[in-house]
Order: sequence, then structure tokens, then C-alpha cells
Amino acid sequence: MPTPLLRYEATNMFAANVAHGITTNDFSSLAKKLTHARTQLLDDLNKQRQTWLACPDDKRLVKQVIELRDKKNRFKTCLVIGIGGSDLGARAAWQALKPLLHGMQLEFLGGNTDPDEIANKLARLDLKTTLINLISKSGDTLEPMSTFLIVREALIKLVGRARHADHIVATTDETDGALHALALKEGYATLPIPKTIGGRFSVLTAVGLFPLACAGVDLKLLLTGARWMRDKFVSQPITTNAPSVFAGLHYLGYTRRGLSIHVLMPYAENLKEFGHWYRQLWAESLGKKLNRDGDRVFVGPTPIAALGATDQHSQLQLYTEGPVDKIVTFIEVQRFRSKLCVPASTRSFSPLAYLAKVRLETILHAERQATAEALRLTGRPNGTLLIPNVNPMTLGALFMFFEIAVAIVGELYNIDAYNQPGVESSKHAMYSSLGRPGYAPSSAAVRRSIKNVIF
Ligand code: PA5
Repeated sequence: MPTPLLRYEATNMFAANVAHGITTNDFSSLAKKLTHARTQLLDDLNKQRQTWLACPDDKRLVKQVIELRDKKNRFKTCLVIGIGGSDLGARAAWQALKPLLHGMQLEFLGGNTDPDEIANKLARLDLKTTLINLISKSGDTLEPMSTFLIVREALIKLVGRARHADHIVATTDETDGALHALALKEGYATLPIPKTIGGRFSVLTAVGLFPLACAGVDLKLLLTGARWMRDKFVSQPITTNAPSVFAGLHYLGYTRRGLSIHVLMPYAENLKEFGHWYRQLWAESLGKKLNRDGDRVFVGPTPIAALGATDQHSQLQLYTEGPVDKIVTFIEVQRFRSKLCVPASTRSFSPLAYLAKVRLETILHAERQATAEALRLTGRPNGTLLIPNVNPMTLGALFMFFEIAVAIVGELYNIDAYNQPGVESSKHAMYSSLGRPGYAPSSAAVRRSIKNVIF
């Protein structure tokens, strides 16, 4: 692999260049903790507590996914129904790679229970030629399951009860949950989500791999990119390998500099959804009340998914002159597929003549550099992830980069980055208001106080 798939340019993260940056002293002092964090991740893997780092090596799963995809090849569309960690990765990869693909069209539902959105999509879809990939690790998440029940009913009306099962692939836990039970009862094809991999770390399991295989993504390339990143993380010195440096600088920014907002700003339209995947990974993994010793720490940076150059005209004023509480990370795509230029004829129009024959790629790079410089001049730390282009390999490397980085930051905070207890209370309230058996209704006091603030 001649060119690196991903590099992290961190010059503007350090106090030597940026007033509110990290001191080299602080960073060097973190080396021991970073090493410990890496050891912890590898120990979790060896003891099979967390196995997402091993995803790039699972050849058996790739074979299973491809065989199932081949059986379903006659479908034109694959409708992915899932939410959070169960769909954001596939959404990100689909948006990024779509122009390169010749497989099934991917469509998504389950990320919301907005009736208009679901009705509109159903009206547009030809269910006769649609494969439905329902993805839920727990198998009973309200949004995808209620959506699925509606889609399933429409499908049964169209093709009949006996034939509907052929349209459905359920990706779920291998032994537990309502979806697992339903799949067994109805004879749906199933793919596994390992118990040792949480939703937001599951893009390189069947959760992401099956829909992407349906779309025509070369899974081997995707996993080669992820493996490249993982191997670099394991083998390179801790203070020079990209994901641990990124994690260390973000941890120090938060704890030493009060930089509690972490912005990801790809300068590429097709990485916009990737920002949403990052946002969920960062927020659900790092926002925690308790540390591993049970102390209340209320820790967690707020992630923001921005987009360059669009957000230069929306967010940048705040980033350069607002509170000094942000770290901005750009993603720069070094080569775009299209070499589109401003027309040469622009030369004859003097106010814009300087743009004649300039590639849009050059303009976008100049915009990214200018934004980094504007932040540097006002003392705001920022860094850049450089990828040669957007393809399955670089995307695999990006997924793995952020999974490693978030897990390392979790170790540095001494929190469990893999659970999400804060989501449970909202689920409880939701189930109780919908009358699910076993979920007590909210207290009258809470209801009264809610009433009191409605004007
Ligand atoms: O990262 C997570 O664990 C969550 O975002 C889950 O992926 C999300 O809540 C969906 O859960 P499930 O796959 O059980 O339907």
C-alpha cells in the first residue's frame, strides 16, 4: 500500500502554534496513560469482552454475507430498517460510495417514526423488487420495529404471507430478543450481531456489511482499510500513531483547556453522513455520569457534525470568535473523482478572472486551509485528517480510526465507552406512555410539572 490511507495533521493542535492548544509537555506526560489505554483495548479483545477490533479479520462472516447477498441478487432495492448504531454506518458508507456502486439501491427507514416520511417512502417503493434488511441487536427497538411491522404488512398484502419471508433478512442477536424469535417463527434469513460488539461499534459486522454488499461495495477493500488502521494502531509507537494522538489531544483539550465541543468538518459533500455516524459514536460512548469506580463525573464532549465549505457560511463565525470551547477536525479529500474546473472563458470577466480554469478541488482545498488558518489566528485548536480519496479502503480506515479513538478517550476518562444507561430512562418513559406491559406510568408529579410549563 504505497500511500497511507489516512494521516492526521495535528500542527494546529499544539500550543506552540495555537494560543489555546495543547502543550507538548502535557502531551508527552500522557504517553504512559495512552499506552495503558491501548493495552486495555487489546486485553478486552483477547479476553473476548469487546471484539470490534477483530472485525477486519472475520473471513467467515464475509463469506456468509456474500452468499446471502448472492441468493438475494434478483432484488433491485434493499430497504435498511434500523436506528443509531444499526443504520448510521451503512448510511454513511452508502452516501460516500454511491457513485462507485452498481448493486442494489439502498433506501433507509427506521431512524424515525415520522408517519409522513414512512408513508411517502412506502408510496415510492416497489416492494415486489425490494429486499428488507431489518437490523436491531436488541430486537425490540421501538422505531425500527414499528416501522418494520408496517412495511411487513404492506409486503404481505402484495406478495402473500407465504412469499413475504423471502424478502426479509433480519440482522440481530443470535439467541435473544423479539426479532430473533420472530425470524425463527417466520423463517426469515438471519445474520448475527455478536454480543461482544455494541451497536455503534458494529458497522464492520453484518450490520454494515450486508447492506453494503447488496449495494455492491467490495467488502474486502473496506475491511483491508480497517485492518490497515487497526494494525498501525497496534504496532506504531503510541505517541505517533494517528488514532491515539487524536484521542490524547482531544482528551487533553477537554480536561486541560475546557475544549468541550468536538467538531468534525469534512470538506466533502459525500462525507456529510459520516459526520452523523461520528456524532453518535462520540456522544453515546463518551457522555457518562459515572466513571468505572462508580464516582459521578458527568463527563463528555459534545460532538458536532459540520460540513465544509457550507458551514463556513453558517458556523465559522462562532468557531473563530465565540467561546474558546471547540476543537475542529477537518477531513480533507486530496483527490476528487471529478476534475471539474471554472470555465476558461471566465478570463474575460475581470472581477472573477482569477478563477478561470481553477479546479473546484483546488478551491475546496484552499477553503479548508483558509478555515484552519482563521482558527489558528484566533488561537483555536484544529487538526486535519487527510485521505487520498473517498473509496472503500479509506472509508474502512476512517471507521476504524474513530472507533479506536473513541475507545481510547473512554479509557482516558476511565469510563465505560460501550454502554448507554442514559438512553434507558427515555426508553422507559416512552414504553410507559405507550402502555407496554411491565413499564410503570410516569409519576403524577412529573405530569403536573410538565403541564405547568405549557403556555
Ligand atoms: O450504539 C448503540 O448501542 C445504539 O445506538 C443502538 O445501536 C441503537 O439504540 C439501536 O439498537 P438496536 O440495534 O438494539 O435496535
